[in-house]
Amino acid sequence: MTALELNHDRGRCAIDIAPGLLDDRSALADAVSGRVLIVTDRNVAAHHLPRVERALAAHRPSTLVLPPGEPSKTLASWTQALDALVDLGAQRDATIVALGGGVVGDLAGFAAASWMRGIRVVQVPTTLLAQVDAAIGGKTGVNLPAGKNLVGAFHQPARVLIDPTTLTTLDGREFRAGLAEVVKYGAIRDAAFLDRLESDAPWLLDRDADRLTAAIERAVRHKVEVVADDEREAGQRALLNFGHTFGHALETETGYTRFLHGEAVAVGMVQAARLGVLLGDLAADDADRLAGLLERLELPTRRPDDVSPAALAEHMKLDKKNQAGRIRLVLLDALGAARVRDDIDPERILEVLEQ
Ligand code: GLY
Repeated sequence: MTALELNHDRGRCAIDIAPGLLDDRSALADAVSGRVLIVTDRNVAAHHLPRVERALAAHRPSTLVLPPGEPSKTLASWTQALDALVDLGAQRDATIVALGGGVVGDLAGFAAASWMRGIRVVQVPTTLLAQVDAAIGGKTGVNLPAGKNLVGAFHQPARVLIDPTTLTTLDGREFRAGLAEVVKYGAIRDAAFLDRLESDAPWLLDRDADRLTAAIERAVRHKVEVVADDEREAGQRALLNFGHTFGHALETETGYTRFLHGEAVAVGMVQAARLGVLLGDLAADDADRLAGLLERLELPTRRPDDVSPAALAEHMKLDKKNQAGRIRLVLLDALGAARVRDDIDPERILEVLEQ
C-alpha cells in the first residue's frame, strides 16, 4: 500500500492507494467517526456499495443514492444530502463518505463543508479522473443553471481511499478520459512521466493493475505536491488547468453531451501546446509528441470539423478563470514545464482553434 499525506491549512489528509483497499474493512471503518452518511450514485452503488456498507455497519450508516451524472450536481441534491443528515441526527462528529466519481465527490464534499460549518468527509473515488484529481485537494461544489461549479467551498477530505481495482468496472470512455488528466501531470511538471506513459500505453489501456496503480500513484503525488504548495490556487495550482480553458470551450459549445470532460481536456491540451508552438515557446516535435501519446491512449486530439472556431473563441473570452478581461491560459515552454499567461493576442488563439 502507498500512504501519502497532504498537509494543508487546517491539518492533514491521509491518502491511501492500494488495489483491494475497499475489501479492507478496517481501512474504511478507521476513516470515519460518529454517524455516517454514504453518498453515491446508482451505477457505483451496484458495484461497490454493499461492501462499503458492511465495513461501516457498526456506524449504522444511511445511504443517499443519486442518479448518475452531472445533472445530479445541483443545489437540489445538496439539499437532499443535508436532509439525510438531519434524518440521521448527524452531529459535528459525523462523517460523509463520498463513494463515486467527481460529481459525487464534489457534491458530498460540499454537503460536508456546509453541515454545521464543516464535518469530516472521506473520499472514496471510483473513477480514474476522481482518483488522480477531483477527490484530492478539497475543491467542492455544485453547478447552477448559469454555469458549472459556481457555488462551492474549499473543504479538505480527512481521508482519501483509492482502490484502483474499482476501475475494472468503469466504462471504457470514462476510463480513457481519466487518462487525459494523468497525461496532464506529465505535460506540466514531469517529462519523464510522459516517457513512462508512452511505453506503458498498451498496458494502461488494458487496465494492467501494476502499471495502472503506478501511474495513479505518480499522478496523485503530483496533485499532493501542487495542492500542498498552493491550496487556494493563488499560484501554481492554476497550472492544473492546462488544456482546461480550450477544453471547457469545447464542452460548452457541444452542450456537455458530446465530449467527456477528460476528452475535451485532451483536445484542449493539444491546442494549448500548438499555441505554444505558434508563439515560439515550444518545439513542434514536443506538441506532436503530446498529441501522439493522447492518440495512443485513444483520446481525441482535434476540434471536430463541425465545431466553429469562432464560437470556441467566444466561449474562451467568457471563461471564469479570466481576469480583467484577459484570457488566462496555461502554456508549455517544454514538456514538463508550464506557466500561466494572460498576454496572448486573441487572434493567435483563433489561429490555433482553426487548425
Ligand atoms: N482540478 C483542479 C484542481 O483541483 O485544482
